Amino acid sequence: MQTSGYAATKAGLDESLRRFNHDYFDLVIIHWPTGNDDETYRALEDAYQDGKVRAIGLSNFNASQVQAIIDGATVAPAIDQIETHLLWQQKRMHAYLTSRGMVHESYAPLGENQPGFLDQPVLQKVAARYHRTPAQVTLRFLNQEGIVVIPKTLDPQHMADNLAIFDFTLAPADVRLLESLDKRQAIVGWPATMQEDQY
Ligand SMILES: NC(=O)c1ccc[n+]([C@@H]2O[C@H](COP(=O)([O-])OP(=O)(O)OC[C@H]3O[C@@H](n4cnc5c(N)ncnc54)[C@H](OP(=O)(O)O)[C@@H]3O)[C@@H](O)[C@H]2O)c1
Repeated sequence: MQTSGYAATKAGLDESLRRFNHDYFDLVIIHWPTGNDDETYRALEDAYQDGKVRAIGLSNFNASQVQAIIDGATVAPAIDQIETHLLWQQKRMHAYLTSRGMVHESYAPLGENQPGFLDQPVLQKVAARYHRTPAQVTLRFLNQEGIVVIPKTLDPQHMADNLAIFDFTLAPADVRLLESLDKRQAIVGWPATMQEDQY
């Protein structure tokens, strides 16, 4: 359910809990900035205080937008979920979020499997060295950087692969190779306010 503003978000959260037949949600985030985010966030804070959500956060908020929420918050945002992958590694946002004690969560960690994304020669070369798939190396790279990843798959084998990334470690030289793929290039291509020259 998508809502915006205090009253609609408060009511929407209660309605979502009712539909799921849950007492609480683990995490609720604002999907993107809309202009009345203070009011929407206040509804999340109230839900947190009432025990209806265990953590609250943001998505697609750039650094100044996150800071505006922090400045008016009584409950600190736990995460910002932003487009992050090999082609747009979000180094500046990562440093900012870390400095605020927030979790940097990556959406589209596999570049939405756009043509050529998993075929990049550098990625293929590193994957071959560890006898892993390019997808696994991509996810492990982000994980090693301290980024939470939420890959999506409908394929049971891919799901198993995506979970099996914690039993190997990329060497610093390979991390540097993968870092060299960063072009600050959005795949999802939205929203413009997330472009690094905007903050
Ligand atoms: N907050 C936001 O604004 C926002 C925006 C976009 C996405 N998201 C969220 O981010 C999550 C993931 O993003 P996404 O689905 O856009 O992109 P993604 O996870 O980067 O890519 C999904 C694609 O990768 C393929 N894939 C998954 N695992 C694979 C593997 N091991 N090997 C090869 N291919 C693999 C999937 O195909 P198969 O099914 O065939 O495996 C699918 O085509 C979703 O939960 C989505 O809701 C949030």
